Amino acid sequence: MKIGKIIVSLFWALLPASLLAQSFTLDVDLKKPGSPIQETMYGIFFEDINYAGDGGLYAELVKNRSFEFPVDPLQGWKAFGKVEVREDGPFEKNPHYVRLQDPGHPHKWTGLDNEGYFGIGVKEGEKYRFSVWARVPDGGSSSLRVELVNTASMGENHFLCQDTLKVYGKEWKKYQLTISPDATLQKSSLRIFLVGDRKAVDLEHVSLFPEDTWKGHENGLRKDLAQALADLKPGIFRFPGGCIVEGTDLETRYNWKNSVGPVENRPLNENRWEYTFPHRFYPNYYQSYGLGFFEFFQLSEEIGAEPLPILSCGLACQFQNENKDAHCPVDELQPFIQDALDLIEFANGPADSKWGSIRAAMGHPAPFNMKFIGIGNEQWDSLYPEHLEPFLKAIRAAYPEMKVVGSSGPDSEGKQFDYLWPEMKRLKADLVDEHFYRPYDWFLSQGARYDNYDRKGPKVFAGEYACHAKGKKWNHAYASLLEAAFMTGIERNADVVHMATYAPLFAHVEGWQWRPDLIWYDNLRSFRTVSWYVQQLYGQFRGKNTLKLQMGGKNVTGAPGQGGLFASAVLDGDKVYVKVVNTSEEARDITLNFTGLKKKATLKADGGMRLMADRKFEDNTLRNPEDIVPLPLDFEGEGKQLETSVPALSFSIFVLERQ
Ligand code: AHR
Repeated sequence: MKIGKIIVSLFWALLPASLLAQSFTLDVDLKKPGSPIQETMYGIFFEDINYAGDGGLYAELVKNRSFEFPVDPLQGWKAFGKVEVREDGPFEKNPHYVRLQDPGHPHKWTGLDNEGYFGIGVKEGEKYRFSVWARVPDGGSSSLRVELVNTASMGENHFLCQDTLKVYGKEWKKYQLTISPDATLQKSSLRIFLVGDRKAVDLEHVSLFPEDTWKGHENGLRKDLAQALADLKPGIFRFPGGCIVEGTDLETRYNWKNSVGPVENRPLNENRWEYTFPHRFYPNYYQSYGLGFFEFFQLSEEIGAEPLPILSCGLACQFQNENKDAHCPVDELQPFIQDALDLIEFANGPADSKWGSIRAAMGHPAPFNMKFIGIGNEQWDSLYPEHLEPFLKAIRAAYPEMKVVGSSGPDSEGKQFDYLWPEMKRLKADLVDEHFYRPYDWFLSQGARYDNYDRKGPKVFAGEYACHAKGKKWNHAYASLLEAAFMTGIERNADVVHMATYAPLFAHVEGWQWRPDLIWYDNLRSFRTVSWYVQQLYGQFRGKNTLKLQMGGKNVTGAPGQGGLFASAVLDGDKVYVKVVNTSEEARDITLNFTGLKKKATLKADGGMRLMADRKFEDNTLRNPEDIVPLPLDFEGEGKQLETSVPALSFSIFVLERQ
């Protein structure tokens, strides 16, 4: 025998049988439905990072509208003529305002330009609501001219639209007018001139919103971005984020109580994402709290997701604070615990309760019916269980039906994770938040992650995850494909995994600190990434119960010999959805073999969807927002066995109907 032949024979002999045959049989057992899949299973995680809130989802177009930026109250503004910043304004928590006065010469002008967030994006013919709190300090009346301007224009006029606002009397009052630009522009500015007889005018809370916000709310959300959330059909909505919950110090933690009530009196908070990454530094990134807890609850309701607020447990960010003094001692935690109890009352209490009445006054007398609350984000060491325990006791005593989410720290495994999980079991947390921003090989190796989790312990909330390729830490289709592969394991283990949310959610192309992210935008356009489509497909084909799906008696988790395939199946009434992710670079022939059926019963193929990731390092873009999207699948036939194939680097959902 020639040596070459021996090598070839050995090669074939060593290959697993399934690969040799190049056909993979997926056995789907239809005898009985498996565990229910929670409606909360696939959801969204919101944090004001990457200008996700102010400058993003929150549709306010004016930056520093209350003149409260601490370094310079006129940051974001250009003042001209005679402008004075004063601090005895009508809103206790936002005391600054400006006084515009006669510039002293008929040929001079007094006023202000606002630059917005990376400019003010406006669309031709759309209506924008300008509003301002104003007074004439000396009494009588005065006038302002309000304009949207294009200062880069070579045209005769800078303005895209203008109107005049008359202000009367010494009392502070809210004024508004509607303007509509005659051109579309990514980066206009808002200009306010003191006009007429130029009597001094005081201005506070200068605001500009598109009238066409999500659901038309006045203090509203950018419609395209909110729609991208609704289209995911999310079951859970986590807010207000991860690290910003904790704060760089306790002073700057997210304080939900400051985020409710009249917007004019919600104080500014620091945003840690201003300075967390000095290589992407944003020197005036603050949280206006205009998008606050009421708006989060309202959005949850409108998109059909259960709200999941996360609150500080009295520990400042542990990444940023090694010193224990940065944290609140356990015996001084009562105000933090009270914040959690008050939040539950704000969301669920009767309209005549202390906090429920604030919700009612904001326009929602009915309770929001909140069922989950998270305490602490990425905390670790014994400090965390020590802090969590008194919260659990207090919440359990007052609201025994409330489900409390604890944390397993910032890592997907390792020392803190191994310490915290047993602690969460000991404390009987209802769910445990796990975070994993991990590379390709981690995602490829974790298909079976939850197969052997303790079924009697707390449930899993995969609260922040995304595939972060080494050296390719940006959105691309291959990373999304591996997320889809990993999610087959979430789905198969729906008895233990009750929630999963990709993170982060949003990023402004000119203002990001962290990527990849699920949805990107500039001031006027947005696009949904391939990862968004993965999430959307899981949401759309969530199903009601798991079904056992195996290859040769083993779960299909990308294990050696399984041809790079990951798969899971669910039942939705008479429909069966089989999800198959082919992470290999070759097409795979597969047989869907349905067992546990009555003799005459069959399955009829009813199409499906397929998302291709063969252009591995590409994604959708602002210019080409629907470049890589799922397409309907040509899948026909009927029987107990159906043969088909899955292309290299693809995510397929086969839809079948029981006959
Ligand atoms: O999602 C970005 C950050 O990642 C979150 O704020 C934090 O929880 C995690 O470290």
